[in-house]
Amino acid sequence: MPRYSRIIGTGSYLPQRIVTNAELETRIDTTDAWITERTGIRQRHVAADDEFTVDLAEAASRRALEAAGLDKVDLIVVATTTPDRVFPSTACLLQSRLDIHGGPAFDVQAVCAGFMYALSIADHYIKAGTANTALVLGAETFSRIIDWTDRNTCVLFGDGAGAVVLKADNTPGILSTHLHADGDYANCLHVPHGVSNNLASVLAGTAFVEMSGREVFKVAVQKLGELVDEALVANGLERSDIDFLVPHQANIRIITATARKLGLPMERVVLTVAEHGNTSAASIPLALDVAARRGDFGNGDRLLLEGFGGGFTWGGALVEWRE
Ligand code: COA
Repeated sequence: MPRYSRIIGTGSYLPQRIVTNAELETRIDTTDAWITERTGIRQRHVAADDEFTVDLAEAASRRALEAAGLDKVDLIVVATTTPDRVFPSTACLLQSRLDIHGGPAFDVQAVCAGFMYALSIADHYIKAGTANTALVLGAETFSRIIDWTDRNTCVLFGDGAGAVVLKADNTPGILSTHLHADGDYANCLHVPHGVSNNLASVLAGTAFVEMSGREVFKVAVQKLGELVDEALVANGLERSDIDFLVPHQANIRIITATARKLGLPMERVVLTVAEHGNTSAASIPLALDVAARRGDFGNGDRLLLEGFGGGFTWGGALVEWRE
């Protein structure tokens, strides 16, 4: 009997506070028109000072577990760039909050492609028979590593969490996952300091995202285009076999380029970038949950999930949706 993992529940959470482009206009030298035209972003959610990544993760997890009708899982994988503590992992903190004990729980760091990495790992655990159920998240308080006076970066990012529950099944489910990285691009999109390198900057709260926007844009479009071909070839499918694109919500122009590569009309592309901005690892499961709860997907629809981020890292998954 073949063994697949199926998505049996989704959930998400966004912090209450919304920062609009109009509010940013009052703080930095930018305009709503510039941000909207270049990125498609109109607003982003920002966590309260006393709200942490694990809080967002817990809220999203509870919704996903409720949708799945489960209160326990065998495995927890959290993709995050903004963990609450150096250690233990956000996944361990979350496991305790959810009163789940004993099974493996760990974080994955692949920035904006993090959810694709986490989903691929959990899918492999389930396919191998090592786990029967898994909770997979992207959760971020990305606002904490943003310099809110730097107009090149601060207009792009926001906070949030998204979760899926996976379960083993004999029918797909997740058809394939595809992961890539090229560390030669490390300096194109990074926080240049960390625990081992200039901890003082981290402690002083001055370790911020730096980005070569044009380079990120160019490589993202190229690599995500290649990923489309790779996922189709791996499954013996044509472009017309794909029903929905669920992309990382970084920039409407990157998303449009990938949709064009797939020959998909924009009404078949799940878009949350205008309301959420780029929530890094959280953006794909957040978008998936919004669309799933809206009832966009039908039984057997084929979804291409994809993300690109710092590293550079990029990855995707081809998923057959089951109701
Ligand atoms: N408001 C107004 N002007 C801004 C601005 C802002 N928020 N940010 C930058 N500018 C200015 C620049 O200073 C520059 O001015 P100059 O020509 O006087 O030097 C001008 O706008 C053009 O900047 P440029 O960087 O060439 O713009 P762009 O068309 O490449 O758009 C991005 C910038 C960041 C929107 C675009 O490069 C992008 O989306 N890159 C990918 C970023 C991304 O997705 N990152 C996350 C990946 S996970």
